Amino acid sequence: MAKIQQKKEKPMIKKFPKGFLWGAATSAHQVEGGCLNNWTEWEKKNALRLAKEAEEKWQKWQKEKFSEMFNPANYISGRACDHYHRFAEDFDLAKTGGHNAHRFSIEWSRIEPEEGKFNEKEVEHYRQVVLALRQRKIEPFVTLWHWTHPIWLEKIGGIKNQKFIFYFSRYTRFLVERLGAKINFWITLNEPNVVAAQSFLRGVWPPQKKNLRDYFLAINHLLTAHQKTFLIIKNLFPRAQVGIAKHQISFQVLQSTMINKLAKKLGDYFWNKRFLKKINYQQDFIGLNHYRRRIVEKGLYRKTEERLTDLGWEFYPESLFQALVELKAYEKPIYVTENGLADADDFQRKEFLFRALSALYSAKKIGVDVRGYFHWSLLDNFEWDKGFWPRFGLIKVDFKTLKRTPRSSFYFYRDIIKRNAL
Ligand code: FCB
Repeated sequence: MAKIQQKKEKPMIKKFPKGFLWGAATSAHQVEGGCLNNWTEWEKKNALRLAKEAEEKWQKWQKEKFSEMFNPANYISGRACDHYHRFAEDFDLAKTGGHNAHRFSIEWSRIEPEEGKFNEKEVEHYRQVVLALRQRKIEPFVTLWHWTHPIWLEKIGGIKNQKFIFYFSRYTRFLVERLGAKINFWITLNEPNVVAAQSFLRGVWPPQKKNLRDYFLAINHLLTAHQKTFLIIKNLFPRAQVGIAKHQISFQVLQSTMINKLAKKLGDYFWNKRFLKKINYQQDFIGLNHYRRRIVEKGLYRKTEERLTDLGWEFYPESLFQALVELKAYEKPIYVTENGLADADDFQRKEFLFRALSALYSAKKIGVDVRGYFHWSLLDNFEWDKGFWPRFGLIKVDFKTLKRTPRSSFYFYRDIIKRNAL
C-alpha cells in the first residue's frame, strides 16, 4: 500500500531526447523594419480602413484592452522591431533563453528589389545573421518566402501569375548558391494554404481579390514553386533538409454522425492534406504551424468560446497532439515550426507552453517523429492586418523605445530547455 502511494506522488518526468531542437520563430516582414514589399504597399492603402473597421470587428473587452487598434499607425509595419539592425542583441537573448535553433525568413524584396537585379550587400546581411546564430550555437531554419515579395512581382499578380514559379526559383538559386554551405534546414514557403485563402477566398489580404480561379491558380503555382526549389536546393546541397511550414487545423468530431465524419474528411483533405500529399516526394521534413482546432458539428466547423487568447482564438494547447498524430502517415521527421498565442499580459503563455509541450511529448511517445519546437514568436511583432497589438512574443517589445524585456514565460521556457524535460 505504502509503495503504491509513493509511486503516485512521484512527478512524471517527461524527458526529451538529446539533440531535440528548441527555439522560436520570426518572419522578416514582422520584425525587421524598413521593408518595401507587397505588404508595405498594401498597408499604406489600407491602414485607415483597418482602423475604422476595428470597431465592428472586435469584442468589447478587446477594444478596451487594445485601443491601439483604432490608430491607423498600428497597421503600418514601419520599423517594426528594428530586428534588421538588432539581430545580434535578439540572438543574445535567444541564447540566454537556452534556444539551440531559430527560424527566420529572408526578405526577397531586399535581395531582388528590381526584377533581375540582385543585391549582394543584402545577401551579406543575411550571411551575418546566419553567422551570428552559428556563433551562438543556434541552428538556423531559413524560410525563403514568408508571404512577402518585391513590389515589381506584385504588380504582375504575385502568386497568381505563373511567372511566380520562375522568379521564385531564380531567387532561390541565387541565395542558396551563396548561403547554402552554412545552412542545413530550408523552408521554401510559409503556409501556402493560408495566404492563398486569405488573399483570394476571403479577399482580406493583398491583393484582396476574391476569386476562386485565382485561389486555385495561386495554390498550384506555390505547389510547383516548392517542387522546383526543392530540386534546386537538393542539387546544390544534397545534404540540406528542405520542407515547407504548413498550417494545419485539428478538425474534431464530437458526435460521430455521417455528416460530421464527412465534414471532417473534407476539411482534412482540402486544408490539411492536399498540399502535403502533392509534395510528399519533395520534402525531407514537415514543418508544422499549429494554432487551432475546429469542432465539427452538424456538418459545420465551429469555434469554441470557452477560454480565449487576446485575439479571441481558443486556448486549447492540446490540439497540437492531434495535429502531430495526423502527420504521422507521411513518415517524415516533423518540426513544429510555429505554435503560440497572443497574450500581452503573459497570463496564459506558461500554461500554454507546458500543455502544448506535454501534447508534443505524448505524440512522440506514440511514435510521431517530432524533432523540434519553435515557439511563435521570439519577439512581439507586426501581426499582418491586425498590426502591433497582438503580442505573441516570449520577449516583450516596447514599440516606442524598442526596448526588449523577456517575459516570465521566456524564463519558464528556458528552464524546460535547460532540463530538456517537462
Ligand atoms: C501564422 C503566420 C505567422 C504569424 C502567426 C500568428 O499563421 O505564419 O507569421 O502571423 O500566424
